[in-house]
Amino acid sequence: MKKSRREFLKTTTVAATALGFNLSKGKTKTVNYGAGKPMSILILGGTGFIGPHMVRSAQARGHVITLFNRGKTNTHLFPEVEKLKGDRENDLESLKGRTWDVVIDNSAIRPWWVRDTAQLLKKSVDRYLFTSTRSTYADFSEIGMDETSPQYDPDPSAVDERRSLGYGQDKVLCEREARKAFGDRTLIVRPGLIVGPGDNTDRFTYWPVRIDRGGEVLAPGDPENGVMFIDVRDLAEWYIHLIENGNTGSYNALGPQSPLSFAEFLYGCRAVTNVDVSFTWVETDFLLERKLRPYREFPCWMPAEDDRLGFQRFDLSKPLAAGLTYRPLAVTAFDTLEWYKSQPSERTAKLKAGISAERELEVLEEWHAKKN
Ligand SMILES: NC(=O)c1ccc[n+]([C@@H]2O[C@H](COP(=O)([O-])OP(=O)(O)OC[C@H]3O[C@@H](n4cnc5c(N)ncnc54)[C@H](OP(=O)(O)O)[C@@H]3O)[C@@H](O)[C@H]2O)c1
Repeated sequence: MKKSRREFLKTTTVAATALGFNLSKGKTKTVNYGAGKPMSILILGGTGFIGPHMVRSAQARGHVITLFNRGKTNTHLFPEVEKLKGDRENDLESLKGRTWDVVIDNSAIRPWWVRDTAQLLKKSVDRYLFTSTRSTYADFSEIGMDETSPQYDPDPSAVDERRSLGYGQDKVLCEREARKAFGDRTLIVRPGLIVGPGDNTDRFTYWPVRIDRGGEVLAPGDPENGVMFIDVRDLAEWYIHLIENGNTGSYNALGPQSPLSFAEFLYGCRAVTNVDVSFTWVETDFLLERKLRPYREFPCWMPAEDDRLGFQRFDLSKPLAAGLTYRPLAVTAFDTLEWYKSQPSERTAKLKAGISAERELEVLEEWHAKKN
């Protein structure tokens, strides 16, 4: 039977109080974390792509969530969750005087956002999980990169000057600001390409959707080339596992567990449709000569060459030892395709990533003409 909002809130409050949280006074009472203990978790962000999956994973484990954002994105989500309004750039008022066990910072792309929030929260929150990125690494020319691989070394004065140095360098400075405030209570996660239901960039989505359209699919480069990504649900579940477990330090977040070639990737996506489809592999140089670029016209694809030799071949020992698990590719591909198909027609009229159908056909014709 469906509950009214009032009934729902009443039940949630009773349940939360039984678990040791005091929602009625507008202040969350913190409970020591540990196996089986609910935690109070502040998520900075929470309503974009990765955040909602984290809210659901945390709720499934009985934790109590507060969100902090501007109230602009997906405002319909999580009516039962406490939402604090503010702006990372210049309005942190609603965070003052509150305590939480853990903060998950998803929304920071500017280092002064992390500096201001982390300094404000360092005495009232036990731990700070910062969502960083693989793009903080300065050099991908080595196969087997791990968390100790060299990162960019950006100019620290950019933080006080509120000057952006670009995504990767800004994120390095963000990591440093988190550590400056939280020290060994900091947990940094550096995901690679995050994929799955809800991803509005269509970078992974392009492939299952394109293959599901059927016909001759242009497959880029060398079939043996590697490919790495992480399903957003694996990431979200792992975040909650890490914080329940009390992990700190830095972790890359990439998969799958055993190396996946681009051919296996495409055949894996092909396995979730039953249309007629064939793949034509077109050489990397032929594509590059036509300005058809890795990660642009062909998302997820990065030729293993020169300064990108190791981009798709990270060493996953540390995340695996810390409990990261992976859904099979077929599950990710199937669910992403189903999610995409469930979107309104205006949304699915054009994929946001990948080569257009017309251009793909032209290139395939040129390729066949060259080969014949
Ligand atoms: N997608 C990838 O492949 C990938 C890979 C590596 C790392 N990452 C990292 O993942 C994070 C982004 O994930 P996501 O967007 O899916 O996170 P999310 O937590 O789901 O959503 C971003 C949130 O930030 C809030 N926000 C944006 N600007 C804000 C501001 N000025 N002040 C307060 N809140 C603000 C948005 O809400 P409002 O608009 O309502 O404020 C939204 O709730 C980034 O840190 C990115 O570096 C992504």
